[in-house]
Amino acid sequence: MTTVVPAWSLTENAALQPLNTFHVPAHARRLLHINDANALPEALAAVADAPLLVLGSGSNVLLAADPEDVVLVFNNRQITALEHRADHTLVRAGAGVVWHEFVMWSLREGLSGLENLALIPGTVGAAPIQNIGAYGAQVGEFIQTVEAWDQHTQQWVRLDHAACNFAYRDSLFKHEPDRYLITAVEFRLPLLHALRLDYAGIGEELTAMGIEQPVAADVANAVIAIRRRKLPDPDVLGNAGSFFKNPILPNEQVDVLLQHYPALPVFPADDDRHRKVSAAWMIEAAGFKGQRDGDAGVSPNHALVLVNHGNASGAELLAFARRVSAAVLEKFGVPIEPEPRLIGARW
Ligand code: FAD
Ligand code: EPU
Repeated sequence: MTTVVPAWSLTENAALQPLNTFHVPAHARRLLHINDANALPEALAAVADAPLLVLGSGSNVLLAADPEDVVLVFNNRQITALEHRADHTLVRAGAGVVWHEFVMWSLREGLSGLENLALIPGTVGAAPIQNIGAYGAQVGEFIQTVEAWDQHTQQWVRLDHAACNFAYRDSLFKHEPDRYLITAVEFRLPLLHALRLDYAGIGEELTAMGIEQPVAADVANAVIAIRRRKLPDPDVLGNAGSFFKNPILPNEQVDVLLQHYPALPVFPADDDRHRKVSAAWMIEAAGFKGQRDGDAGVSPNHALVLVNHGNASGAELLAFARRVSAAVLEKFGVPIEPEPRLIGARW
């Protein structure tokens, strides 16, 4: 017997606790599942009376209250190689594809580029939103086109790389949340590519693995091993990865900070007039690593990761995060801002 999957479906009063990696309790009055992206306009017409909130795996949101909106989840999970060229392949992946599965698929196909981005939670559809990045790579470098339904014009759009305005943890999509419902992303993945091994820890990890001449899959395995050691597994301890972005400051301010705190880790930014400083280091220096208030706390393993020790609400996590940022501001004079999207609250 074959089961026919409907193009879309609507559920009333849906629990969102399994749909966010902080695992905080919240409810959506209506939850819209899109299985076939072509049916999106028809499905949206059925919920046209309310605003929309798109959720992927909920690994970069903090639900501080129940959303007012209809929550929309994409389940379209096709991956298609569109075009094979001598030096790259153009690949299209549906918004609902699990990001890490896509990375592993690309490596099995002999494609490279995404190896440093292995094991980042979430979906392909969310990857362009904050231009996910790790270990010296950012996804925007490999995105050729983002396909989306534009809620303002009520039309399908294909946004090319330049239109997406990718920057550190930033893109066009962050500035107009929920305007573009991303249904698929097209990636230009090289067959051969200079591996990025310079980010702290990768070279050492490969050496420890006994690998002298790494290929892309080895880099992915090294990144996976480092991430498993450093970051708490959200299935065990609710979290959304880094809760704060690393602040980007003018060079002059960084120089003054370094005079007072020579150990502060500093990284290059998108332009040479600014540098990125480590928020984790400042939070640790402010005494918050491993601290908690009830079930809301900062991970003992990584100071940038806000954690839910069990039954914290979104509002409690947010209150703790505000204490952390106030302490960093007081000690260093540097404001730090949340990376995850706050639902039902403003920073
Ligand atoms: P969600 O959290 O569900 O949504 C995030 C935002 O994207 C929301 O604004 C949402 O409305 C929007 N959105 C989602 N899907 C769509 C769509 N199809 N169309 C339009 N808007 C959409 N991030 C990094 O960059 N680097 C890391 O190394 C990293 N490590 C992490 C480690 C852990 C343990 C965790 C829990 C998170 C980590 N993150 C990291 C953050 C997170 O994995 C990424 O931001 C990821 O892209 C979020 O995907 P998601 O599907 O869970 O999106
Ligand atoms: N550090 C501390 N204390 C800690 C943890 C780290 O002082 O508890 C210091 C380390 O010594 C290191 C520096 O902070 O010098 C940077 O640490 P790490 O390499 O872990 O990177 P990060 O800046 O904390 C960023 C991203 C991560 C990404 C890693 C690896 C942001 C906000 N976070 O973290 O992304 O995985 O680099 O590239 O840019 C995420 O966005 O959710 C995320 C996990």
